[in-house]
Amino acid sequence: MKYLLVFLTAVQVWRQHVGADQRGRVQLGATTILPCEISGTSDRLSQITWQRTVKGKAPNDVFLTIQPRIGLKYSNGEDLRFQLIGNFDEKNGTLKFSDVTLEDEGSYTCIFSLFPSGKQSRTSQLVTLVPPNTNLMSYTPLEGNEEVPLATCTAAASKPKAEVRWIKGSLEGKVREELSETQHANGTTTTWSTLLGKPQREMNGQSVQCVVSSETMKEEILETNIQVYYSPGEVTVIERSKDSFECAAEANPNATFAWTRGGLSPPESVIVEKGRLQFPSRNSDLSGLYQCEAENTVGKAKTSVFVHFSSEPAVACWVVLALVFVLLMVAAAFVYFWRSGKFSVLREHTPLRKEVQSNNISGEIEFSHQEKAGSV
Ligand SMILES: *[C@@H]1O[C@H](CO)[C@@H](O)[C@H](O)[C@H]1NC(C)=O
Ligand SMILES: *[C@@H]1O[C@H](CO)[C@@H](O)[C@H](O)[C@H]1NC(C)=O
Ligand SMILES: *[C@@H]1O[C@H](CO)[C@@H](O)[C@H](O)[C@H]1NC(C)=O
Repeated sequence: MKYLLVFLTAVQVWRQHVGADQRGRVQLGATTILPCEISGTSDRLSQITWQRTVKGKAPNDVFLTIQPRIGLKYSNGEDLRFQLIGNFDEKNGTLKFSDVTLEDEGSYTCIFSLFPSGKQSRTSQLVTLVPPNTNLMSYTPLEGNEEVPLATCTAAASKPKAEVRWIKGSLEGKVREELSETQHANGTTTTWSTLLGKPQREMNGQSVQCVVSSETMKEEILETNIQVYYSPGEVTVIERSKDSFECAAEANPNATFAWTRGGLSPPESVIVEKGRLQFPSRNSDLSGLYQCEAENTVGKAKTSVFVHFSSEPAVACWVVLALVFVLLMVAAAFVYFWRSGKFSVLREHTPLRKEVQSNNISGEIEFSHQEKAGSV
């Protein structure tokens, strides 16, 4: 963004022999006007000379002359950023000066060579303004009791220097700000303010704002969320359905979850997806104490859940029915053959007796106590 910011006094009163000073403030890269005019004289003008006194150049460095017929003549190399917008015949040597840099800051004098009265000059000051480069950075401290930087707001290389302050929101009273500044050789200043505090998990996600104000721009408000890294706290297991459990834990960064049964991976048929444990069937083989461990870069915590299934009721019923049916068929056949006398040999010592039993069917879930470990 490059704005034309020219703060020139509206009315210039030309005083004979005295250079009327004025201050032109222009933003870096913008265009400004270097005024130069004379009126109320009928003297003959032979030349308008522009000279400047800027850092890094000899004082009163002549950079441009304007003569009738010849027109503009640049000294020390053509600098097309200077364009004549006045009119020599009207004794007007006003220049348009574009793409102003920090090195151009200084005083600019135009000198009228008049006959017979002699020389008259006037001087204007040029001040270059530089808007800051703003930046807001938040850190990711670990939860703890030491005061550490939580966020830093920077207004870099501005001229004049920018102001940086904070709107702390819900963290008011829990954090403090520390202001620093550095001056650069090119005349700009970098200002930065750091927000310091003891990182607590309650602070995580809280928003803070940094307000940067400077002469060169409107107030700029930057916003960030405070980050605090902390280990998983309480781990909970939520029963999503009769055969699905989900492990959850508050942590930053987000925790990853690992399910085990008796220290080993859960049986292959059990679907483990992120924190979720999904039982495909209510098979008693899948019963046991399942442990969920939540872990992030800071630490870990765990909890267990006791899952108890008996044999699958529907399947057991069908198995029993099928067995009963098969036995009835066998018995019927046996009786038929027996009656027909073909089993006479066995008749005396073969009683038919068979029992089928199935387990009692019930599913139980027991939650065991919580365990927490490894938090730093
Ligand atoms: C001199 O030239 C500038 C630029 O064209 C103009 O704005 C200004 O009015 C002129 N001054 C006079 C006295 O004519
Ligand atoms: C001024 O100097 C600082 C520090 O070296 C630099 O970051 C900045 O870009 C410079 N500004 C200009 C306008 O040259
Ligand atoms: C962390 O978990 C929260 C809540 O489940 C979610 O909204 C967020 O997107 C997760 N963040 C990352 C980086 O995965």
